[in-house]
Amino acid sequence: MYAVITGISFVVLFGVIFWSTTRFMRHQIDDSVSSEIDEIRAGARGKSPEEIEVLVRGLAKHSSGFVYLLQDPFGVVRAGNLPSLQPKLGIREWDAPSSGSDARYAAIRGLGVSLAGDYLFVGWSTHQLHDMEKMVVGTFVWGFAASIALALAGGFVMSGRLLRKIQSISDTSRDIVETDLSRRIPLSSARDEFDNLSASVNGMLDRIQALMSDLRQVTTDIAHDMRTPLTRLRQRLELAQHSEAGADSLRLALASTVREIDAILEIFAALLRIAQMESGARSSNYKRVDLTEVMSTVAELYRPSAEDRQQALTEHLAPGATVVGDRELLLQLFANLTENAILHAPPGARIELATEQSRSGAQVIVADNGSGIPADMREKVLQRFFRLEKSRTTPGNGLGLSLAAAIVKLHDATMTFSDNQPGLRVTVSFAHHG
Ligand SMILES: Nc1ncnc2c1ncn2[C@@H]1O[C@H](COP(=O)(O)OP(=O)(O)OP(=O)(O)O)[C@@H](O)[C@H]1O
Ligand SMILES: [Mg+2]
Repeated sequence: MYAVITGISFVVLFGVIFWSTTRFMRHQIDDSVSSEIDEIRAGARGKSPEEIEVLVRGLAKHSSGFVYLLQDPFGVVRAGNLPSLQPKLGIREWDAPSSGSDARYAAIRGLGVSLAGDYLFVGWSTHQLHDMEKMVVGTFVWGFAASIALALAGGFVMSGRLLRKIQSISDTSRDIVETDLSRRIPLSSARDEFDNLSASVNGMLDRIQALMSDLRQVTTDIAHDMRTPLTRLRQRLELAQHSEAGADSLRLALASTVREIDAILEIFAALLRIAQMESGARSSNYKRVDLTEVMSTVAELYRPSAEDRQQALTEHLAPGATVVGDRELLLQLFANLTENAILHAPPGARIELATEQSRSGAQVIVADNGSGIPADMREKVLQRFFRLEKSRTTPGNGLGLSLAAAIVKLHDATMTFSDNQPGLRVTVSFAHHG
């Protein structure tokens, strides 16, 4: 391809050079021939045919490169150094040696005119012109061959290099996908585009690996966590099957079984909601939401449960804290955090809900003075079904914070856990949305 393009441009270049140089040389011949004719015409003015014949003969004798022919209307040569010609007027050029003529006059270009009833032709050898043409053609042929060879060799080397690199990247990535997903494409020290490509592919592999391990984790977690309630359910049903109890107590047993199935269904619903949230794009439902209003709704909803546990629920709500988001989801997020504070902090604890609006955006804080979450567990509690050891006895499935994290991510917000000394302090920060 490269060679073809080089070849075409070379041919075009040759054509232009060849055409313009030969045209220039022909022009020069034409110019000097016609000025010579003008001079003869001037010298012949008012002279007899015999005198003109003498004039031309003299010119032909001392010729400085021109060739001359003066012949009468019957084709008889009267003077000059050319054999007789067809008396054709205008520019004429020939290459073949006319029979019997001197080889010097083989290739001629010149102008034929009529002069006092006779035919006068003055020409110039095109020998030089043809030499020039030969030289240009010769140069071109060699140059063409050399440049095509260079283009072919260069193209071969370049594309070979590119193809080898691409081939190695594609081989390695195929190998990785087929065998060991934890391997990566090695980068060269060149840090060129191919390393960029390899780095992107490696990034993709990282992401795929993370997603796959997430998936594996979630699957085992679900399988594991569903076993306990299902086993319990099975035992209860088995007991009922073999019991001698009357219809009333069996009906009671069935009622509690239905409750347990409802709880399991609820877990599935929560899992589905998290999955939906994690894969979901921003919903079209996004509006400006007043966080202060959302938090007072949360406080109102949870005040009775806090009071049941003799906990003090206080609010520090700055007016005007707003974000763009989905109100229902935000309510769910802060309800989960508040519920955690109430359930996981001991009776008599203090729980604080706060909103803040700063230059950088809005913040919501849910804090308690319970036992808190140790720093090394703060990542883990976000996983599905993960619960701290001490929460074994409190009700819950370990899904509340997973859902909260998914909602936070959907709103481009961040959720950080910190030590409330003592207790847990959860800060949700929303980026400023103009
Ligand atoms: N305010 C808190 N104080 C102490 N520990 C907490 C607090 N919030 C959460 N945790 C710990 O993090 C774990 C995970 O919380 P998460 O909300 O995900 O699940 P859950 O509350 O146990 O159950 P669910 O919310 O699904 O009903 C809890 O089991 C608890 O051990
Ligand atoms: Mg919870």
